[in-house]
Amino acid sequence: MSEKLSGKVALVTGGTSGIGLATARLFMEEGARVVVTGSSEASVAQARAALPGLVWARVSDARSDADIKALVQDMRAELGLIDVAFLNAGVLRGGSLAQASEADFDEVLDVDLKGPWLAMRALIPHLAPGASIVLNTSVANERGWPGLGAYSAAKAGLRALVRTATAELAPQGIRVNAVSPGPTLTPIFGRNGVPAEQAEAAANSLIPRIPLGRLGQPEDIAKAVLFLASGDAAFVVGAELVVDGGLSQV
Ligand SMILES: NC(=O)c1ccc[n+]([C@@H]2O[C@H](COP(=O)([O-])OP(=O)(O)OC[C@H]3O[C@@H](n4cnc5c(N)ncnc54)[C@H](OP(=O)(O)O)[C@@H]3O)[C@@H](O)[C@H]2O)c1
Repeated sequence: MSEKLSGKVALVTGGTSGIGLATARLFMEEGARVVVTGSSEASVAQARAALPGLVWARVSDARSDADIKALVQDMRAELGLIDVAFLNAGVLRGGSLAQASEADFDEVLDVDLKGPWLAMRALIPHLAPGASIVLNTSVANERGWPGLGAYSAAKAGLRALVRTATAELAPQGIRVNAVSPGPTLTPIFGRNGVPAEQAEAAANSLIPRIPLGRLGQPEDIAKAVLFLASGDAAFVVGAELVVDGGLSQV
C-alpha cells in the first residue's frame, strides 16, 4: 500500500453514498484520518458501518453555515489542522426550464454551489500548509442537457469558484481543483423521485455516447480525487479533471 495520505486529516462531505463513500474508503486505505458528512442519522450510521476505522460520520447539512462551522471547529480541536477536503455533497433535481420548480432550483443551488462555498469559507482558517481542496463538478457544466438547468448552472458556478479560490489561496500554498465526473453509477439518479429502474435506464441510455462504452463507477472518480488530493498533484491547481470515459470529448 502506497499510503499517499499517510497521517493526513481529510473531510469528505456527502461521504455516506456513491462517489463520496468510495473516496472516503480510498482515502482511509491510503492512510488518512477521515471524517464524512451526510444529511441524515440513518445515512451516517450506514457510513459508520461501511467504513470501519472512520474517525467520524456526522449529520451536517451542506446548506448550513452553522453546521459546517461547528464540524470544522470540532475537527480542528480534536484532529488538528485539516489537510484534505473533498466537497462532494450534491443533489440532482431534473426539470425543464418550463416545468422545473423554484424549490428544486433553490435546493440544487444551495446544496451544490452554496454548500462548497460555505465549506471553503469555514475551512480556510483551519487548513494545514499545503492543503488540498477538491470540488465535485460535472460534465453537465460544459454541455446542454435538457432538464438539467439548475444542476448545470450550479456546477458551472462551482467551476468558476475553483478559479477564484485558486487566485486567492494558491499564493498561500493551498491547492483547489475540481473533479468532473461523467455519468457514474450511484444512487443519485434514483433520488429525484424517479423509480430506480427508470433512473438506471436513463443512465444506461448514455452508454452509446461514451467512447469507453460504460458508465463510471464511484471508484473511477475516487482515484482521480486521490490524485488531486495527494502530493502527486503538487503542481496542479485551478484545474478540472474530467473523468467521463470520453463522453465530453466526442
Ligand atoms: N453520479 C453521477 O453521475 C455524477 C456525475 C457528475 C457529478 N456528480 C456529483 O457527485 C457528487 C456525489 O454524487 P453521487 O453521484 O455520489 O450521489 P449520491 O450517491 O446520491 O450521494 C450524494 C451525497 O451527498 C449527500 N448530500 C446530499 N444533500 C446533502 C445535504 N443537504 N447535506 C449533506 N449531505 C448531503 C448525501 O448524503 P445522504 O446520503 O445522507 O443524503 C450523499 O452522501 C454530487 O455533487 C454530484 O453532483 C455525480
